[in-house]
Amino acid sequence: MKILVTGGTGYIGSHTVVELQKQGHKVVIVDNLSNSHRDVLHQIEKISGVKPDFEELDLVDIAKTGDFFNRNRDISGIIHFAAFKAVGESVADPLMYYRNNLFSLVNILQNMKDKGIKNLVFSSSCTVYGQPDKLPVAEDAPVQMAMSPYGNTKQISEEVIQDTAKVTDINAVMLRYFNPIGAHESALIGELPLGVPNNLVPFITQTAIGIRKQLSVFGEDYNTPDGTAIRDYIHVVDLAKAHVIAIDRMIEENQKKKVEIFNLGTGNGFSVLEVIKSFEKVSGEKLNYKIVERRPGDVEQVFADTRFANDELGWKAQKSLDEMMLSAWNWEKELMLKTKN
Ligand code: NAD
Ligand code: WQD
Repeated sequence: MKILVTGGTGYIGSHTVVELQKQGHKVVIVDNLSNSHRDVLHQIEKISGVKPDFEELDLVDIAKTGDFFNRNRDISGIIHFAAFKAVGESVADPLMYYRNNLFSLVNILQNMKDKGIKNLVFSSSCTVYGQPDKLPVAEDAPVQMAMSPYGNTKQISEEVIQDTAKVTDINAVMLRYFNPIGAHESALIGELPLGVPNNLVPFITQTAIGIRKQLSVFGEDYNTPDGTAIRDYIHVVDLAKAHVIAIDRMIEENQKKKVEIFNLGTGNGFSVLEVIKSFEKVSGEKLNYKIVERRPGDVEQVFADTRFANDELGWKAQKSLDEMMLSAWNWEKELMLKTKN
C-alpha cells in the first residue's frame, strides 16, 4: 500500500515525502508542476535514498484524475497539499483560485468515494481564524469571514470535507498550519517562491543575499510589545512530521472522530522585529529594512493553542526560531550557488 501525496514536489509536500519515506512509507506524488520543479524528485532521492513515484497531473482534470486512480488501486491514504496559495493573486483572480483549489478537492473526494479510499489529510490554514478574540487560539474558536478568496477556499474546503465525511466512509484530518518557514537541514529542498515573495521569511533571506533592496516591515503601531505584528512560525520539518503521524493515525484507525482538526504551530508568537533579530544573529548579516504602513488584511497577532495536537497526536514542534531562520538562510545561500552554476 502507498500514500498519495498531491502537491508533493511543492514546499511542504516535499518535506513530508521525505518524512514519510523515513518512516517506511511508499509514496506516489501527483503534481502539475505549476509551482514546483521536477528536479525536487532527485533532491528527495538524495536525502532519503528513494526516488518517489511521480505523475505529472492537473487534479482539476476529471478524466485524467479518474484515470490515475484507476491505475493506482493500492492507495491507503491521501495527503492533499495541491493548491494555489498566494493571497494577493487570489484577490486579483478569484475564479482561478476557486477552480483550482475546490475542483481538485472535489475530484479527489469523488475518487476516494468511488474507489473506497478512506483516509484524507488536508492542508488547512490558521487564516480561518482571522483575528481571534482569544489567544492562543484553539481549534474550537469560531471560523471568521475569510479575508481573501484564497482563505475562503480553505474554509469552503473544510466544509466540503465535513459534508462528504458525514455520508461516506471517508475520514479526514484537517491540519491548520500557522506560518511554515525554514528548509530541510540538508539544504537540498526548501521553499521556491516565484517572483517577489509575499511572505516575511523568504523576503528577509532574499534581501540579505542581495536579490531585494530592502524589506518593508508592515506597521509598528500594533498593540504588541514592540508594535509589530505577531505570528506563530513553525519549521517545515516539524510540520511535515505531523502529517506522518496524522496519516498513520487514520490507517491504524485511531481516530476519535470521522473528521478531526488540529492546529500545527509552536504555540509561541514572535513579532516581525524579533524574527529579523533572530535572522541577524544566526546569519551574521545586517538586514536593510524600514518600517512602512500596515499591509491591508493583516491581523495583529495570532498564535496557536497546541495542546490538542500535543496530547492527541503525541506531536510537538521542536525547532527554535533561531534554528528555523538558520535553515532558511542556508537554503537561500544554496539557491544562490545553484543560480551561479
Ligand atoms: P506549494 O505551492 O509549494 O505546493 C503546492 C504544490 O501543488 C505545487 O507543487 C503545485 O505545483 C501543486 N499544485 C497546485 N495546483 C495543482 C493542481 N491543480 N494539480 C496538481 N498539482 C497542483 O505550496 P506549499 O507552501 O507547499 O503549500 C501546501 C499546502 O499547504 C497548500 O494547500 C497551501 O494552501 C497550504 N498552506 C500553506 C501555507 C504556507 O504558508 N506555505 C500555510 C497554510 C496552508
Ligand atoms: C508574516 C508577518 C506581515 C512580509 C500568510 C497567509 C496565510 C498563510 C501564511 C497560507 C505579517 C509581516 C510580511 C513583508 C512584513 N498561508 N511582513 N514584510 O500574512 O501571516 O500569512 O502566509 O495559508 O494565509 O496570509 O504571513 O509571511 O506574509 O507575514 O512586515 O515583506 O510579516 O505583515 O505580520 P501571514 P507573511
